Amino acid sequence: MHVDVVFTPDEAGSAPTGIVIDVIRATSTICQALAAGYERVFCAAEVEEARALRETLGEGVLGGERHAVTIPGFDLGNSPREYVEPTGSTLILSTTNGTRAVVAAARRCERVFVASLLNLAAVVAAARDAGDDVVVVCAGVQGTLALDDAFVAGRVVALLGCDRTDAADAAARLVTTWGGPEEALRASKSGRNLVENAPHLEADIPFCSRESVLDVVPRLVALHETAGEIAL
Ligand code: MLT
Repeated sequence: MHVDVVFTPDEAGSAPTGIVIDVIRATSTICQALAAGYERVFCAAEVEEARALRETLGEGVLGGERHAVTIPGFDLGNSPREYVEPTGSTLILSTTNGTRAVVAAARRCERVFVASLLNLAAVVAAARDAGDDVVVVCAGVQGTLALDDAFVAGRVVALLGCDRTDAADAAARLVTTWGGPEEALRASKSGRNLVENAPHLEADIPFCSRESVLDVVPRLVALHETAGEIAL
């Protein structure tokens, strides 16, 4: 078993098992929503795709962000703290980077798991049980490496404990340069963007920094024309 890491969704790299990370905040939100009782989460890259999907389904809570804040006309934003109680059974989520990364991974992996720090141990156990090579797909920030996702990728690599590519080794080594998850998340471009664009949402950073508090393994169950469907 080998593990590789790609630091942006466009970087080359594929494996039977894909693990997608956008810790601030899309994949933390997906994990939290499914743990709270939402039955499925549709990940739509574009706002209009999310709206069209709700029309087609005839139901669904619309959630997501642009520039960290709730999209006009949407029911909820992208703060995982908004998802501790379900307000429906279907969530349709559109975010700047994370939902695109899910769709990108779905196009090149046989199975896709959604990871955050919240469900770290559970997702690592699922990947190990699958027994195949793994690629960790970081969402990054608009096509560039983001340290928060690289930190979580490094934690996944360390916990998997299998053979690693140089990229995976780099991620694992990076982890030791911070005192802990919250320090790493605050140091990242994603963390800084969140605090600059939406200071009232700063509490999302300590929320997303908690490790292995949710025993859920969200996985891709279908790739529709414009959205990946995630469920437990
Ligand atoms: C994203 O998908 O880019 C992020 O989840 C942004 C955020 O809401 O913090």
